[in-house]
Amino acid sequence: MAGQGVFKDLLDGDVFKYYVDGAWTPTTSGKSVGIVNPSTLKPLFKISACTQDEVNKCVDSCKAAQKLWAKVPLWKRAEHLHKLAAIMKDQKITIADCLVKEVAKCMKDAMVEVVRSGDLIDYTAEEGIRILSEGKFLTSDPFPGNERNKYCLASKIPLGVVLAIPPFNYPVNLAVSKIGPALIAGNSVLLKPPTQGAVATLHMVHCIHMAGFPKGLVNAITGKGSEIGDYTTTHPGINCISFTGGDTGIAISKKAGMIPLQMELGGKDTCLVLEDADLELAATHVVKGGYSYSGQRCTAVKVVCVMESVADELVKKINEKIKKLTVGMPEKDCDITPVISETSANFIQGLVEDAKEKGAKLHQEWKREGNLIWPVLIDKVLPDMRIAWEEPFGPVLPIMRIKSVEEGIHHCNANNFALQGCVFTKNIDKAIMISDAMESGTIQINAAPARGPDHFPFQGLRDSGIGSQGIINSINMMCKTKSIVINLPGPSYSMG
Ligand code: G3P
Repeated sequence: MAGQGVFKDLLDGDVFKYYVDGAWTPTTSGKSVGIVNPSTLKPLFKISACTQDEVNKCVDSCKAAQKLWAKVPLWKRAEHLHKLAAIMKDQKITIADCLVKEVAKCMKDAMVEVVRSGDLIDYTAEEGIRILSEGKFLTSDPFPGNERNKYCLASKIPLGVVLAIPPFNYPVNLAVSKIGPALIAGNSVLLKPPTQGAVATLHMVHCIHMAGFPKGLVNAITGKGSEIGDYTTTHPGINCISFTGGDTGIAISKKAGMIPLQMELGGKDTCLVLEDADLELAATHVVKGGYSYSGQRCTAVKVVCVMESVADELVKKINEKIKKLTVGMPEKDCDITPVISETSANFIQGLVEDAKEKGAKLHQEWKREGNLIWPVLIDKVLPDMRIAWEEPFGPVLPIMRIKSVEEGIHHCNANNFALQGCVFTKNIDKAIMISDAMESGTIQINAAPARGPDHFPFQGLRDSGIGSQGIINSINMMCKTKSIVINLPGPSYSMG
């Protein structure tokens, strides 16, 4: 399979090389990591199992390139980014094709991921110029005292080397959402793609190569977590980590030390449906939010808390829409495609079995072929069921029937994960008061949770993460403030 529709420069035999100092390089380990096609369960690609020495080589290369890049004018950095965006859009079919095979994303969503990434880079370049060209000038107020004889010139300077670790579900988009802000702010980037999704990400890196960025500004390492995982995340040459993924992020945070962290971890996004909600609208968003990309989004609707009096009607509408979802292979552009791995499919099945055993009602028959799971709505879920709290990351959605709004808010707030949530009601005052009471990073009013638009702030609370994302916040987060203070002998010139 390797070699079909892929950039040939990336290959050493049938193994994808890693990228260091502007060159695609074979690993010296002689070892590789296999990528399995989630749809066929057959081996698909091989990526380099890099060594710790190769991590050092990448970090050294990043450090050298960053020193020069920090001196490059903003408009030139932006020019490179615009070029990258154009190349990526041009190569969208090649990259999307990898996503289809590697992470079983349907073709239309894979294309959207690449085009969205190009747009994100363009916007980052423009926003970066505005944010970074502005500094601050402060006059002094002594604490304590009377003399005002100091002036402060504060500006934003880069952090250094940013380690970017994207997840399998958006390996390209969540790589560029880290790389774009890092580069415009004058940093260099060491990219560690997820194993599943690595080849699509390496193709994006090749677009960086084609855009003519200086050598070493972006390096990409692949390999086994057990060999290079901790070694990379605790490397003294890393000055910032931007990670999206699961529980591993908590372990990374604990070991990372005194560097800025941006972590987007899980989400158990609660959807609250009130008695006065537009149920047709709510059902449309619940189905889109809960089942798109087979529920494998941190921002997917993960539990619906609906007022008992309207629950039957909402469930009926959701079921009608589930019936229309197409189930099958990503190449056929089906709505529901195989989940990422057998481990994941088994985990999802375990959650459904637990709920069923404890009395929940499945509106659709449980059906699974390999990693392909047919969509299921699990009704009458109670707090003692695992699925009320755990994140399935699959096409199964629990419904909890609630007697009061407070019960729904309580369920949302009692969860460890607090990325996003949503509320459906026609009463805007209530919507705002409920949004205030729901303790999650973002609450959507009358729409399903979503990260975009990509310049909005995006931050999870509790175990859902630390450090705010979104283009603007990421640019600011990937800088530190440098101050130059002018000290005068007195507040004004003495006239003798
Ligand atoms: O799961 C990744 C998360 O960032 C979701 O993004 O755009 O699907 O809301 P999005």
